[in-house]
This record gives sequence, C-alpha cells and structure tokens, in this order.
Amino acid sequence: MKNQPIANQFSPDEHIVLFHGSCLDLLKQIPEHSIQLIITSPPYNIGKEYEKKLKLNDYVNQQAEVIKECERVLTDKGSICWQVGNYVDNGSIIPLDAVLHPVFSDLNLVMRNRIIWYFEHGLHCSRRFSGRYETIIWYTRKVKDYVFNLDPVRVPQKYPAKKYFKGPKAGQYSCNPLGKNPGDVWDIPNVKSNHIEKTEHPCQFPVELIERLVLSMTNRDDWIFDPFVGTGTSIIAALRHGRRGAGAEIIKKYVDLAASRIQKAIKGTLKTRPMYKPKYDPDVSRNKLAIPPWKEINQTLPDQLVIFDKNSEPTNENN
Ligand SMILES: C[S@@+](CC[C@H](N)C(=O)[O-])C[C@H]1O[C@@H](n2cnc3c(N)ncnc32)[C@H](O)[C@@H]1O
Repeated sequence: MKNQPIANQFSPDEHIVLFHGSCLDLLKQIPEHSIQLIITSPPYNIGKEYEKKLKLNDYVNQQAEVIKECERVLTDKGSICWQVGNYVDNGSIIPLDAVLHPVFSDLNLVMRNRIIWYFEHGLHCSRRFSGRYETIIWYTRKVKDYVFNLDPVRVPQKYPAKKYFKGPKAGQYSCNPLGKNPGDVWDIPNVKSNHIEKTEHPCQFPVELIERLVLSMTNRDDWIFDPFVGTGTSIIAALRHGRRGAGAEIIKKYVDLAASRIQKAIKGTLKTRPMYKPKYDPDVSRNKLAIPPWKEINQTLPDQLVIFDKNSEPTNENN
C-alpha cells in the first residue's frame, strides 16, 4: 500500500479516490458493474451542519437518486450496505430503514440482513428511551452466489471446549474452531469523545464496523465505494485489507480530514480501535467511579452474620 497516491477523479486503475463534491458527480464517473461493496451512512435529515432539513418525501427522493446510481455501478455479486438511524419529526421518530426499503426493493435488490448496530453512548432522552442502536440494511442482487466470506469475520465461541457427548462424534469438539457467526446484532463502540478515532466530525463510523463488512463482502483488490465518505473511514477500512477505496464528500474541511487520515493509514500511523478488542467494562477494570458511594462505605465494613432471634419478628424500620 506504500506510496499510493490519492486521486481526485475515478478511474478503475486507481487504488484510492477521494472526490470533493457531490456523490452524484462522482458516481457519473464510475463505470457500471464495477463496485463490489457500497457502504455508507447518509445524512439522516436531522439538521446537522452538512444538511438542509427536507420534508421526508423529498429526502427519500433525494436518497433514491443516489441509490439508483449505486445500483448501476454495483457488480453482479456485490453488496450495498446503507447504515441509518431515525428521522425525528416533532418528537416522533421514523426509522429510516423502513422508509428507504421500498427504494431498494423497487430496484430488484434483495435484503440479506438488517443488522442492529448497538452502542452505549449518545443523547440522553427525557421523553422516551434513549436511542442506542442504528441499523445497517444489506442488499444484493437476486443471485445465489453473492460474495459472503464468513470465516474472516467469525468471533470466538462461547464454549470452545464443548464436546459431543454421544453419537458417532462423541468426544470430538462440537464447535467450529475458527469461531462462530457474529450474528446480526453488533455491539461495537460508537465514536464519541473518548474513542481513539474521534475527530471533529459529528458522526464517524468506527473503522472496525466497516472492516467486518469489507472482509465478509469483498475480496482482495475489489472496489469499496462510500457516496457520503465524511472522514474517509470506509476508504481506510478498504485499504487496510488490500481493497481499493473511493468516496465523495461535499465539505472541504472533511475532505482534508479524510485525506490526512488516509495518509496516516497508508503510513501505518493512524490509531484505530482494533477489531475484536473487548469492550471496556468499568466493573471488570475496577474503575473507582463505577462503585456507588454507598456501596463503597459498605465494602469497608467487615462481613457480618445476621442472626435473627426466632422469637421476635424482623422489624421494618420503614413501617
Ligand atoms: C453521516 S456523515 C458520514 C460520515 C462517515 N461515515 C465517516 O465515517 O466519517 C454524512 C456525510 O455526507 C456528506 N454529504 C452530504 N451530502 C453529500 C453529497 N451530496 N455528496 C457527498 N457528500 C455529502 C456530509 O458532509 C457528511 O460528512
């Protein structure tokens, strides 16, 4: 990957393309059936600095224009992964995967998974439960042989030492030694203030989330394309695994940020949270702040045996 230049226009001969401008303009440069994986998190129409809040119908039509172009450039065995949350209108939430699904199915694409990406940090709601998941809707064409490589993304088994206890395989290990299928609920920390990958962008992908999609849905040298590339995360995940990456971003400061992160990734100096690193658990780490103050006081007392006098009823001081 050393010394790979970052091109600003698409050509199938390039390895890295970072386009400053609208994704529709970059898509026009991409030949049909040439991209193996399209992965993106579009603006959610919630009034972030990079979007003008539109009526839901207009938003869906705008997305449909991009999705239609993405379908044109998708290879026969390729995948489209659209990562979305909720559109919020006057306190009412509308899940964007539900409203965008008809756009994909009208293009004859088939949903293969609706992945729940669960995370622990975000806004605290006071009139409803705080939102702690978003979804990745994954589509392919109507073919049986779409690319899906499970082995590179298997996760450790819960009981790897478990054996068959009867039958012809009795005594042999019953688990796949390569690990198990990660399932469709992914517990991956989102990029908030203490995350090692945090930049000034308000909603970055964690690199490890995209690495799992890249490894399972593409092969070496394939193209990965992100129409709303932000800080370049999808390109970084692609390059890390010997794939090619392309993306568009309309805001100049994010294009510059993406270019700088990509350069660091090429040099091997970009700090990212490794795939499969266990999540930080304040209890397991014995973080003092995780102990409620009242428990801390109790913990300093010696263990006591509570001996009841069988002739007297226990009293409840609150009565
Ligand atoms: C949700 S963010 C994506 C962040 C990205 N996943 C990352 O890891 O950094 C959406 C991005 O799309 C950009 N954007 C909005 N409309 C665009 C368009 N028409 N073409 C290209 N980029 C666009 C926004 O500026 C924003 O940075």
